[in-house]
Amino acid sequence: MCKTIGFCGIIKIMSKDSKIVLTGDRPTGKLHLGHFVGSIQNRLKLQNEADKSFYMIADVQGLTDNANNPEKIRDNLIEVALDNLACGLDPKKTTMFIQSQVPEIAELTVLFLNLVTVARLKRNPTVKSEMKDKGYGEDVPAGFLAYPVSQAADILFTHSNLIPVGDDQLPQIEQANEIVDSFNRFYGETFKKVKPLIGNTPRLIGTDGNSKMSKSLNNGIYLSDSLEDISKKVISMYTDPKHIHVEDPGSVEGNVVFTYLDIFDSNKTELESLKEQYRKGGLGDMVIKKRLIGILEEIIKPIREKREELSKDKESIMKILEEGTKDARIVAKETMAEVRKAMKINYFK
Ligand code: TRP
Repeated sequence: MCKTIGFCGIIKIMSKDSKIVLTGDRPTGKLHLGHFVGSIQNRLKLQNEADKSFYMIADVQGLTDNANNPEKIRDNLIEVALDNLACGLDPKKTTMFIQSQVPEIAELTVLFLNLVTVARLKRNPTVKSEMKDKGYGEDVPAGFLAYPVSQAADILFTHSNLIPVGDDQLPQIEQANEIVDSFNRFYGETFKKVKPLIGNTPRLIGTDGNSKMSKSLNNGIYLSDSLEDISKKVISMYTDPKHIHVEDPGSVEGNVVFTYLDIFDSNKTELESLKEQYRKGGLGDMVIKKRLIGILEEIIKPIREKREELSKDKESIMKILEEGTKDARIVAKETMAEVRKAMKINYFK
């Protein structure tokens, strides 16, 4: 089987129980710990287990709410590639490609748009909350409102069936599956249903305690952060506002530092005894903050160092993306031939 770069198409790989994986990032900023625990860890695991694994940089999707700022997308394309490579995504195992350079995705999106109503697009809870954050109202760019349709095309052009994502992406997977149903009903059995794969921590809270870590909320710890950045961010975290003196009893629940320790601290026995002490009183905030700084630095340091090394040769990164894009286009052409045939728009042989 030709699983890796230079492989020979997707139809040969597809079988009843083959695992084809696709995931992606919008190049709108560097990636943070929320991405790491929500999706990247699963990407790394799946690239070893899947029959075929794809990673896409969603620049077209990034442009749906950044039409007036193409430099931002262009600059961040390399950043998200670096983040993933530094975490261990391996271009020999995962085909890494750029969305805009596979025009068949745009073609498939246009055809899928007929299968979705505007009312349905407006009901998508993730899009709804993003629209609210951006203050769009009715003046939402049409491309932004419809990006879940383009995301369905990202997934389906590769016939992927396993999608490692954070839980904010579940509505997009649901919409993709509705498109699968409609397409198959109108044009015959062509696509299979897709499954999300949610990380151990589907949603990481921000350093400010907000329910989501996000660049726009400025509450993220980045995979490229220095020890100094990490320290500053952890020190600014809320603990328990009633825990003023070291000897005061403190609350562990709703305490941002303990929420992070629950996720990242692998020594659960020690953590439980720290919690007990904190509840009773006698444990200072700086002790738990220093512990968290040490743990996060241990995770981020090797990523940051690998990232720095890789960033010295950006040309090689672009070469990886160029090669991966060539592979993705082989798949795209195969799928579009199937789609055009199913839709009876294959006029010229
Ligand atoms: N919407 C995803 C995000 O914001 C990025 C993305 C684009 C994606 N296309 C995808 C994720 C296909 C999974 C599958 O993070």
